[in-house]
Amino acid sequence: MLPRLERVVEHFVSNDNTQRTKGRMAGPRWKQVIEKALEKNGKENVFQLATHSSTSPFPQVRCLIFRAFLQTPSNPSNPLLITTTDVRTPKAREMVENPWVQLVWWHDDTKEQYRISGWAGVVPAPGHALEKAFKEAIEGKGGAEAGVVKGRGSAVRDGGLRKVGVGEGGHDWESYRREVFSTMSGHMKATWARPQAPSGDLDGEYELMKGWPERIGEGKEGEDKEFYEKALGNFGLVVVDPIEVEVVELGVVPNRRRKFVLRGEDEWDVVEVVP
Ligand SMILES: Cc1cc2nc3c(=O)[nH]c(=O)nc-3n(C[C@H](O)[C@H](O)[C@H](O)COP(=O)(O)O)c2cc1C
Repeated sequence: MLPRLERVVEHFVSNDNTQRTKGRMAGPRWKQVIEKALEKNGKENVFQLATHSSTSPFPQVRCLIFRAFLQTPSNPSNPLLITTTDVRTPKAREMVENPWVQLVWWHDDTKEQYRISGWAGVVPAPGHALEKAFKEAIEGKGGAEAGVVKGRGSAVRDGGLRKVGVGEGGHDWESYRREVFSTMSGHMKATWARPQAPSGDLDGEYELMKGWPERIGEGKEGEDKEFYEKALGNFGLVVVDPIEVEVVELGVVPNRRRKFVLRGEDEWDVVEVVP
């Protein structure tokens, strides 16, 4: 029996930027720092995520909205960061090809910067081509290569994703994906139902987009149902499994920078570095 979402998600930032805090588990120090900042201002929920591209020399960076920490009784020391995306975007492919990511997140209210390095997985609809990569990486099969950082062992093996698991006895990712989807606004849902993949070439036909759905309702019947199903099919979770977290505090004098590094399964070493 899997724990219900309310119990496993510690900190959920909903679509209207309000926060819900349920059944809080303490977790590592760095997570508590982020939560404190979110409590102060939950609207500061946008981070920038960098991925690798196999077709470009440039790091690929974009803004994403932090949705939740996923922390279950299986991963009390390795909370996962959850965000959402359209599985058709380049970033989804990039994370499957090379799951090593880094994100940076500035909180103006607390004057803190978080830089999180780790492994990222994409949770698509069941049967989607990207599903296999997620499962295999967590199970330590196809992801063996992807899951190894030089000199650091396997982050997937050591980190939270492996502990949370997939399949029999693991986390029910599909229920979780659907539950997160259900919290999205009608406007957001419509973005996943658009006919062309995000970042696709519009061939200069900007006007074309005026015919695309703007909002999706409950998906009960007719065209709304059709769009709802399409959106749910393109909707994916992005899961970031941190192995290094750097916290810079510019609100204290002297400024402070601490690096939290995952050691072994569930211990975080902390190193003070010059800011
Ligand atoms: C403030 C802000 C928040 C955003 N949040 C998300 C998000 O949560 N998920 C997402 O897929 N795209 C989000 N985007 C759009 C992405 O930054 C990006 O433009 C889009 O996903 C295409 O990314 P890609 O071509 O790098 O894959 C956001 C953009 C902005 C400006």
